[in-house]
Amino acid sequence: MFDVILYQPEIPPNTGNIIRLCANTGARLHLVKPLGFSLDDKQLMRAGLDYHEFATLAVYDNWTDCAERFKNRRMFAVSTKGTQRFDLVRYASEDVFLFGPETRGLPAELIHAVGASQRIRVPMLPHSRSLNLSNAVAVVIYEAWRQIGFENGR
Ligand SMILES: C[S@@+](CC[C@H](N)C(=O)[O-])C[C@H]1O[C@@H](n2cnc3c(N)ncnc32)[C@H](O)[C@@H]1O
Repeated sequence: MFDVILYQPEIPPNTGNIIRLCANTGARLHLVKPLGFSLDDKQLMRAGLDYHEFATLAVYDNWTDCAERFKNRRMFAVSTKGTQRFDLVRYASEDVFLFGPETRGLPAELIHAVGASQRIRVPMLPHSRSLNLSNAVAVVIYEAWRQIGFENGR
């Protein structure tokens, strides 16, 4: 299934929602430090998570370690600055999706580490700033999962 990477996430309830989303869709979740919270943060726990939902969570000390783990996989940088509309891509079940931190977005060097066709954006009305991080993850993962026939889902 898909792998979701959150680069330096800052806001606990967003990561809580994404942990649950990944557990419900079979995606594996990867967090790149520094995190804006501790993993036993009360606000994170308020997302009502069960222990099994943490089962596929991995944490990396830095981007280099995470990038090494995924060096042979197709990765999409998901950004408001993406050049490709997300719904026009044909996804495959081993794809990896990289999302940026809430207040800063992905650094330019990470966006440009993938080819232009892998820098995807979710359309918004003109002059909009951005979607909430957990909403952006949900929209992209559900579109990708839909395309592969909701593999293992029912
Ligand atoms: C709150 S947004 C960051 C806002 C930041 N000012 C920016 O423009 O990237 C947090 C993350 O959600 C994702 N995101 C939010 N809206 C998006 C959109 N319309 N298209 C693609 N990704 C989006 C991106 O991964 C982004 O780094």
